[in-house]
Amino acid sequence: MVTLAESQLQLSDFQLVQEIYFPKNYEASSMWKLKQLLWETAVVQWEQTAESLGSFGEVWEPLPIGKHFDSILDLGCGYGRLAAYLSKQKKITCNKYYGIDISESLLRRMLGYKRAYNLFPSAEFSLICIAGDKLPFEDNSIDFVRASSIFLSLETEQLKHNLAEIARVIKPGGVFVFEDLFYNRYCPMNILDNVLNKTRKSKLDFGHLKQYSLREIKRLLKNSQLSQKCPQYTIKPHKPALLQEKFGNVGMRVSNDINKEINPPKFLKEFLACGYSVYSKV
Ligand SMILES: C[S@@+](CC[C@H](N)C(=O)[O-])C[C@H]1O[C@@H](n2cnc3c(N)ncnc32)[C@H](O)[C@@H]1O
Repeated sequence: MVTLAESQLQLSDFQLVQEIYFPKNYEASSMWKLKQLLWETAVVQWEQTAESLGSFGEVWEPLPIGKHFDSILDLGCGYGRLAAYLSKQKKITCNKYYGIDISESLLRRMLGYKRAYNLFPSAEFSLICIAGDKLPFEDNSIDFVRASSIFLSLETEQLKHNLAEIARVIKPGGVFVFEDLFYNRYCPMNILDNVLNKTRKSKLDFGHLKQYSLREIKRLLKNSQLSQKCPQYTIKPHKPALLQEKFGNVGMRVSNDINKEINPPKFLKEFLACGYSVYSKV
């Protein structure tokens, strides 16, 4: 169980600078700046998806069109692909929408999309520039927490803090969706990647992402108290893969085609899964 020793943050501890909340003593460390830059570079490639207002995977299918939540927390919201998808395509409404991201420039882009597409028009809409390991919300105050692709690059200790914070702020029985967040350490593609990673000079890139076994994922959820607070959830293996699809930055079409053709029997699905999504009942 992770304990958060420092006193709890509140949104009133922040300053609003041109419509984005920053911690009052905000000064991004050089480490964070480097991470922000890496994410911004990675996320730029998704611009087109945002133009078409986002498309998302099967974990979102059970979410009924037009559902209303009191509060939504979008952790690692980037430039707002999910907000666009939920607000425009799923017609989800909420009273309070909170988008959190370490990258100011992605949040600024999101503000542009918010205006252009009139996202969550009836909600109190707050964007907060901060890392996800200390959330400025009361215990048991958020109905719906979503995180996508932010845990992959975190060290396990940081991930534990993020999960413990989510568990603290989510309402008992609340909804959470973690999409493709846990890479599977036993997937053959990832095993190969681990071998290649040993030859890489820089560890601070997205060539190598943190990986967890199913057992470790269950333990992380349990130790954070999330599985006790929101006990009805699914851990879903996604995308079976045998071969590396990229070598450095170069995509390998043959591996891609082979991976697409794999249709493993049920007992092999977990082993071959590239990663796992974890989501509760909506
Ligand atoms: C792969 S992008 C996903 C963006 C968005 N969720 C989407 O689906 O389009 C990951 C995002 O998480 C942000 N991020 C990474 N680490 C973070 C952290 N520790 N706390 C908050 N945001 C983080 C990055 O700046 C980036 O915007």
